[in-house]
Amino acid sequence: MARLAVNVDHVATVREARGIDEPDPVLAAGLAELAGAECIICHLREDRRHIQDRDLRLLRETVKTRLNLEMAAVDEIVEIACTIKPNLCTLVPERREELTTEGGLDVIARPGLYTKVVERLKQAGINVSFFIDPDPDQVKASRDCGGDIVEIHTGHYSEARSEPEAQERFKAIVQAVEAAHKLELRISAGHGLNYVNIKRFRVLPQIEEYSIGHSIVARAVIVGFERAVREMVELVKDF
Ligand code: PXP
Repeated sequence: MARLAVNVDHVATVREARGIDEPDPVLAAGLAELAGAECIICHLREDRRHIQDRDLRLLRETVKTRLNLEMAAVDEIVEIACTIKPNLCTLVPERREELTTEGGLDVIARPGLYTKVVERLKQAGINVSFFIDPDPDQVKASRDCGGDIVEIHTGHYSEARSEPEAQERFKAIVQAVEAAHKLELRISAGHGLNYVNIKRFRVLPQIEEYSIGHSIVARAVIVGFERAVREMVELVKDF
């Protein structure tokens, strides 16, 4: 039985498009919890393009399930995380010119940096997840750097243009999940998942939690936030 973690960044994206105070990602987070979400996620980006520092503070005060902060491994944001103390920090790559997180974190490339960041976050009592491509070597590097959880990047699978391509890309996810399971890491998955392409994950009970934002916010615009979240909770709870 997998859990749903709802990313509320794009509620803030709509707000920032107008530069005013609505819609409110904090209100959306509360509704998501009432609808069955078991974790709320936000990404405090260095350019503050959607979630603002105040949102993060309010989410920490109001979220009743768990709060997962997505973040780059940079000093400014690590400091903020150590002060706010979300339940979990997910380390992601971050480039200013990207529309959304594009690839997984290359943990193999900078083990020294990531080990230090994990140590700082853990000293503050925060669990750490690495958002990585479905690559067993990145899984191992995440474990070696002290990560508790790996979040497998499902974006490439989600963007497949044909069934054979989707099958091929899903195979890579299966291999990464098996590698993480063997290393006794906890496993989550996310990026680009929607109400249709998530169904294939039924065969992977090792995945404890799905991290989903855009497809839920997109559906919420049409049917309302609670219903959009509930429909996704219904899908993943059977996995
Ligand atoms: N996981 C991570 C690490 C992300 O950066 C994002 C996007 O913010 C998601 C999951 C959710 O992706 P989506 O908005 O496509 O559902």
